[in-house]
Parts: sequence; structure tokens; C-alpha cells
Amino acid sequence: MASITLDRVSKRFGGLTVVDAVSLDIADGEFMVLVGPSGCGKSTTLRMIAGLEESSEGRISIGARDVTRLEPRDRNVAMVFQNYALYPHKSVYDNLAFGLRMKKLDRADIERRVRRAAAMLGIEQLLARKPRQLSGGQMQRVALGRALVRDPEAFLLDEPLSNLDARMRVQTREEIAKLHREVGTSMVYVTHDQVEAMTLGDRVCAMRDGRIQQVGPPLALYDRPANRFVAAFIGSPEMNLVEADVVPGPTVHIGEAVLPLPEHGIRLPAPGSRITLGIRPEHLAVADGAGPRITGTIGMVERLGDRTLVGLDVAGIIIKALLPRDDALAPGQHIALAPMPGRLHVFDGETGASLAVP
Ligand SMILES: Nc1ncnc2c1ncn2[C@@H]1O[C@H](COP(=O)(O)OP(=O)(O)OP(=O)(O)O)[C@@H](O)[C@H]1O
Ligand SMILES: [Mg+2]
Repeated sequence: MASITLDRVSKRFGGLTVVDAVSLDIADGEFMVLVGPSGCGKSTTLRMIAGLEESSEGRISIGARDVTRLEPRDRNVAMVFQNYALYPHKSVYDNLAFGLRMKKLDRADIERRVRRAAAMLGIEQLLARKPRQLSGGQMQRVALGRALVRDPEAFLLDEPLSNLDARMRVQTREEIAKLHREVGTSMVYVTHDQVEAMTLGDRVCAMRDGRIQQVGPPLALYDRPANRFVAAFIGSPEMNLVEADVVPGPTVHIGEAVLPLPEHGIRLPAPGSRITLGIRPEHLAVADGAGPRITGTIGMVERLGDRTLVGLDVAGIIIKALLPRDDALAPGQHIALAPMPGRLHVFDGETGASLAVP
């Protein structure tokens, strides 16, 4: 087991910088998730840690070792790929054992490691099968097993669940979390799925255009997004983000609504400045009594079971609200919503940076 440190690591393909001065400290035993939209450089970052891609700049350490120029096989990390990359003509047992045989481990040791990994992953009964005789979820477990038998200093996983159907994804996700608790080895996990990031990570590193946007525990990104991008990316349904001008008070107008800005905890923008106001759909409630409210006409209604998601048309801006189940809500109705106190987010209108005081 080991920590992993990236110190201003960059990657350029030709003139294009796809990973830009990424610095990240992953603690020994930590589960770190790299999350971000397609093309933001997650896989490239992971591949540089694995040594499958050479970094253009910067330093990568695993434990006390500088591995920046080491070959992948000398880094003692195990990578799990989205497409499993199993040998099709070998049995599950031989897929698990292959790397160990290449390392010339003795037979008894190999057998012990394969059986142990198979037991941890619940695939003992599959050891004689070939990959084509497995479901996607089973193949993914074999791919995990192949990493596990190596007993590496860190696991690197690149979208390991994205070929699975929704149910299998949830189940395998829980298994990966359990596996991490059992082996306690550092894991770096790449996904574009914010739910996976939130549920698996000890910490989450949100990336965009090759740059880190924010690193922290999942709920810190949810509660205190550092900028508009993280605010929109983390949380589902997405945070409502509305452009507004600050007027003396200080307040902002959304349609006819006049919302007071928080008095504490933010660097208050001067009247006249442009901000982006953020409010999560789950932090809106149907207004009762006085107080700030946003009125509009219901455009869409999604009945989710215990909740009802409505899209409110407020002078042409759509504000989504995730409300307790209410079967009476219907398109065309006029309603008023109230933001829950202390749940407004304020971002700089130009840079998108949060105006919250850290
Ligand atoms: N070998 C390459 N040559 C040129 N450009 C590349 C190469 N590999 C990746 N890129 C570019 O680098 C950027 C980052 O790619 P990367 O695969 O790291 O993204 P990602 O965040 O993993 O995306 P996804 O979620 O789609 O897997 C992309 O714009 C991609 O087109
Ligand atoms: Mg990728």
C-alpha cells in the first residue's frame, strides 16, 4: 500500500494540453475518484499514474519512490479497464493466474492468491469458464480479480462499470466499495458519473479541460462547490443556475421575485455586478406564508414516486424543484416556491468562482 502524489503533471499531445499542471495527493489507503465530463483528461491522468502514458511535465511518486520515468511493470500498480481486457481463450483461472506466472511466482502461491481473490469476488464457481461464457458483471469481477491477485500498491480503475446495465452497476459499485474496505489499498477511480463519484470516493477530484476544479469529500463538493462548473456537475437533478444583477439590499431579481442575498459567509458583490445564483432543486419548497418566493407556471411534472419534480417557468427561466410527492401538481398551475434558508449559492458572474468565504 502506498500514497500517490502528482506534482504539476501535464500531458500534451502535439500542441494540445489535455492535462494541465495537475497536483494531487492521494493518501495511503484512500479511495480517490477523478470525475468530469468526457474528454476532461481523467483517463490520461490515470494512464500517466500507471505509466501507460508518459507525462510531458511534472513528477509522479508512489510511496517514497519517484516513478515518473519507470515502466508500468516497475510501478507495482494494477489497472482495471472499462473493456475488461480479458484473454478470450484462457479460462477465468488462467486469466487470474497469467500475470503471476509471468512474474514466476510458485504454483502454490498462485493458487492461493487466485482462490482468495475468487472468494472475495464471489466467482469461485466460474474459474473453469471462458470469458465468452460470462455476463458483463462477471467479466468485470474477473477483471477486478486479475488486479487483486497482484497485491499491488494501488488500484487504478478506469470507468470499470460503464459497460454494465443500471442494476448491475449499482451492485458492482457496492462490491467495489466493500473490496476497498477489505483490502484497504489506495484506489484511483475514474468515472464521468457523479453518483459513482459521490458514493465511492473518500474524496472526489472534479476535472474540466485538463484542470482540477475542486478536490474534497463528496459532500463538501455538494455543499460548497468551488465554482459554477462543480455546482452543476455534482448533484442530480442539476442545480438551478440563474444569471442575475445585484441590486441594493443586496438582493437579486428572478422574474418578479426579489431574493435577499445571504448576509453571512459570502463576499458580497457590489450592487450592479453580475452574479450567478445557484439553488438545488431539493432546496426549494412550496412557499407558505410570507418571505421570499419565486412564482411561475408549472411547465413539466415528473412523478418519481416519493418525490415530484416540477419545472417552473419564471419569466422564461425554468427553475426545477424537487418536491415531496404531490399528485395534484400539474402543468399550467401557478405556484410559488421558497428557497430554503442558507441554501443559496452565489457565483461570480464572470469567472464562475464561488463567492462563499471558505
Ligand atoms: N493519443 C492521443 N492523441 C491525441 N489526443 C488524445 C490522445 N489521447 C487522448 N487525447 C485527447 O485528450 C483529451 C483527454 O482524453 P481522456 O481520454 O483523458 O479523457 P477522459 O476524461 O478520460 O474522457 P472520457 O470520459 O470520454 O473517457 C481528449 O480531448 C482526447 O481527445
Ligand atoms: Mg476516459
